[in-house]
Amino acid sequence: MAEHPAYPVGLRLSGRRVVVLGGGQVAQRRLPALIAAGADIVLVSPGATPSVEAMADAGEITWVRRGYEDGDLADAWYALIATSDPEANTRASAEAERHRVWCVRSDDADRATAWTPATGHSEGVTVAVLTTHARGRDPRHTAAIRDAVVEGLRDGTLVAPHHRTRAPGVWLVGGGPGDPDLITVRGRRLLAEADVVIADRLGPRDLLAELPSHVEVIDAAKIPYGRYMAQEAINNALVEHAKQGKAVVRLKGGDPFVFGRGMEEVQALAEAGIPCTVVPGISSSISVPGAAGIPVTHRGVAHEFTVVSGHVAPDDERSLVDWPSLAKLTGTLVVLMGVDKIGKIAETLVAHGRSPETPVALVQEGTTAAQRRVDATLATVAETVRAEDVKPPAVIVIGEVVRVGPEPAA
Ligand SMILES: C[S@@+](CC[C@H](N)C(=O)[O-])C[C@H]1O[C@@H](n2cnc3c(N)ncnc32)[C@H](O)[C@@H]1O
Repeated sequence: MAEHPAYPVGLRLSGRRVVVLGGGQVAQRRLPALIAAGADIVLVSPGATPSVEAMADAGEITWVRRGYEDGDLADAWYALIATSDPEANTRASAEAERHRVWCVRSDDADRATAWTPATGHSEGVTVAVLTTHARGRDPRHTAAIRDAVVEGLRDGTLVAPHHRTRAPGVWLVGGGPGDPDLITVRGRRLLAEADVVIADRLGPRDLLAELPSHVEVIDAAKIPYGRYMAQEAINNALVEHAKQGKAVVRLKGGDPFVFGRGMEEVQALAEAGIPCTVVPGISSSISVPGAAGIPVTHRGVAHEFTVVSGHVAPDDERSLVDWPSLAKLTGTLVVLMGVDKIGKIAETLVAHGRSPETPVALVQEGTTAAQRRVDATLATVAETVRAEDVKPPAVIVIGEVVRVGPEPAA
């Protein structure tokens, strides 16, 4: 039997009796997949691990508390033989053979009539990897192949386009702060499956270089907008490409809903009747300080953090931020888009009660190769930004958390 390769097949076990002999570690590992398959599982074993016992208590399996007896496999469609008694295993597999029940044996793959593949799942597909022959079985190798395939499908490094089920539409993907490794697994996979990618200036632009040549990459900053406002032109481009039946990824920096105008795009697509799915991203407001060694909260130091846009000055009538109230908070202030206005912002915070000695850190181009951190206080930050020539994009952190991390190595 072992001379020929195993024949792979997917068993549909829903409502069908599966007998498991032995309630130890092997059963514990295999039972969840059998339960997920809807099998009618009978466990025959005098004892069981606490996890297996919990499955019985939850009614997911029926536990017969005794050792194997001849006849236990009579009504089974499939059996897993995994007792610690080799003699019982041999008798059970002889019974399985007599009743033509496919059986897996944990102690002797050569004598088994079925093998369990290394399995994993990705997007409605089960990946199952089997060794071809019993001799040379290397479970770690099959598991490693399974991991490589599943991980590759999840992160988009292994591209398997959907031909039947992929619906046109737009995926609004948060790309994270810039480091290409900081996009989500789902975001990366969707990028790999896109026909069109409309990308912002911020975000993981390095990922665009990896896209297959047939993918149309559109730089959102360069969309001609003639009589439209820039955002309207982007909305329009999303709608037009999706209407052509294309899979469109709108790749945004950080998280789409943190100062990202993401909801405007969702609304425009909804008005045009185009399905849109939002994929959250890692926002620069937390990750960029973190990458520079600054926690936005710290026990005993800051019990809150507030993320604010600094794109208009505090005295600008368009500002929706209550800066005097923010000055009274004791926690961390994280200011995005605030480099140009930081002088006015610091002045306002001090005027309304925040200490001029409050530490401030500016983290420019965080998580990229060009990341740099410049430290100051509310009293000195305006001058420091000028002297150090700090440029956007930068995240500005105001508060005692700036000082809690270890000194950077010299
Ligand atoms: C229009 S907002 C978009 C924020 C984005 N949606 C997010 O969640 O990170 C752009 C601002 O985010 C901040 N920013 C984004 N990426 C950054 C990075 N890698 N380094 C520093 N600041 C960044 C800067 O303050 C920049 O001006």
